[in-house]
Amino acid sequence: MPRRLYIETVGCQMNVLDSELVAAGLLERGYELVDDRRRADTILFNTCSVRQHAEDKIYSALGRLKHLKGQRPGTIIGVLGCMAQKERHAILRRAPHVDLIVGPGQLGRLPALLDEVAAGGGPRIEVSLDRTAGDRPAVMASFEPYDPGRTARMRPTPDQAMVRIILGCDRFCSYCVVPGVRGPEQSRPAVNIEAEVRRLAGEGCVEVTLLGQAVNRYCDATTRPETRLPGLLAKLNQIEGIRRLKFVTNHPRYMGRELIGAVRDLEKVSPYFHVPAQSGSDAVLERMNRGYTSAEYREMLAMIRETVRGASVTSDFIVGFCGETEEDFRRTVELVRESRFKNSFIFKYSPRPGTKAAELYADDVPYPVKQRRNNELLAIQNAISLADNRGFVGREVEILVEGPSKVEQKRGPAAYEQAPVQLVGRTVCDRIVVFDGPRELTGRILPVRIERAEATTLFARLA
Ligand code: SAH
Ligand code: SF4
Ligand code: F3S
Repeated sequence: MPRRLYIETVGCQMNVLDSELVAAGLLERGYELVDDRRRADTILFNTCSVRQHAEDKIYSALGRLKHLKGQRPGTIIGVLGCMAQKERHAILRRAPHVDLIVGPGQLGRLPALLDEVAAGGGPRIEVSLDRTAGDRPAVMASFEPYDPGRTARMRPTPDQAMVRIILGCDRFCSYCVVPGVRGPEQSRPAVNIEAEVRRLAGEGCVEVTLLGQAVNRYCDATTRPETRLPGLLAKLNQIEGIRRLKFVTNHPRYMGRELIGAVRDLEKVSPYFHVPAQSGSDAVLERMNRGYTSAEYREMLAMIRETVRGASVTSDFIVGFCGETEEDFRRTVELVRESRFKNSFIFKYSPRPGTKAAELYADDVPYPVKQRRNNELLAIQNAISLADNRGFVGREVEILVEGPSKVEQKRGPAAYEQAPVQLVGRTVCDRIVVFDGPRELTGRILPVRIERAEATTLFARLA
């Protein structure tokens, strides 16, 4: 009987992509994918360490599986991803019923490791070298860039795919675990990326999102001259079948004129920039080790606005970072008010053991203050998002139809038969559009007329 696989994924798009690759590898070896962990005999958690909350969720999920493991000892429980790399020993201490711990740089070996565990070789820990555990080439080599198999079944939609172009991160923002858990920055060769995108296009994929922690630092030094992100985009722009290209996440410091010009000039590249500011206070940015001032961020934003008409820009912010005064927070509020981000993700600072910030600075902003600043910033951003979205009402826009909405998915496949259903699509500037139509429209790019707007959603009718 085939083994039945259940994967739960938390964290960023890197993890969503890794889960797809893991599932592809296992499906190829005869595993069957199930949606309910109670029906599974292989349960994998692909985990995140970016905030304490993300780790807590996984520990409680693992705790709940203890009983199941007691009843069905043959079930394999695996922890993958960033928390596996960071928390390997703590996981086995707190959840001794876990069979397998595999870091993000070792996922290519997962099928073999699962076989070994099934044959009685557990528990196993397979992680990459810590950044201080060897010289740079050795640490790099231990984060294996596994050039992937793919499976459309694990994608949110078969028509859209993510493609990793950089592994790891070398920026070392003081609050961030990512350089530790994802290892040194390594750009994948442009030829491999091109081949992967061609293959996806051949499978009918129309939209590709390029991934990297600081994606605009992409540099393939094996080509002459070296290939940077604008050059890579130009190559991918020529691939037949691909209709939309996006790239996330950008670091403000590397947002050059050439890249912004490429977004303007290449017709398939979406006029959409996710370029997190994190804070509007220079003192806080400095302690965060972000490498730019708020004035430099504003200049960069002005360059985007001048060059790419109608571009949407989104940001992330951390509130309540070490030493953030009310005055610092006001600087962030000012930046949000004037920048007119399409949306912002706002996080309360969560100290991460092992990072510079945790080592050097006290987590001295009380939780209720973090919460208030979070709410205040969110309310300001939402008002801006709503006002900008209202500007779309009455306009016709082109969207890529992603498929039935969450509401429809909950109603189950039977309900799909009755057309029309509620569909979700996205504009080129990454705005979410909801409308009614036959589900066969999924994967199509078509015009709709916007009738109503909320802060995060536009409501439309087929044009
Ligand atoms: N590489 C991306 C994303 C990193 S993680 C970037 O540079 O922007 C995604 C977001 O989580 C970050 O942008 C930051 O806003 C937030 N984040 C990271 N570490 C955090 C921490 N310790 N506490 C709270 N938020 C954090
Ligand atoms: Fe973390 Fe900074 Fe790297 Fe982003 S750029 S992953 S925030 S260290
Ligand atoms: Fe989390 Fe790892 Fe992404 S720590 S945010 S899943 S790179």
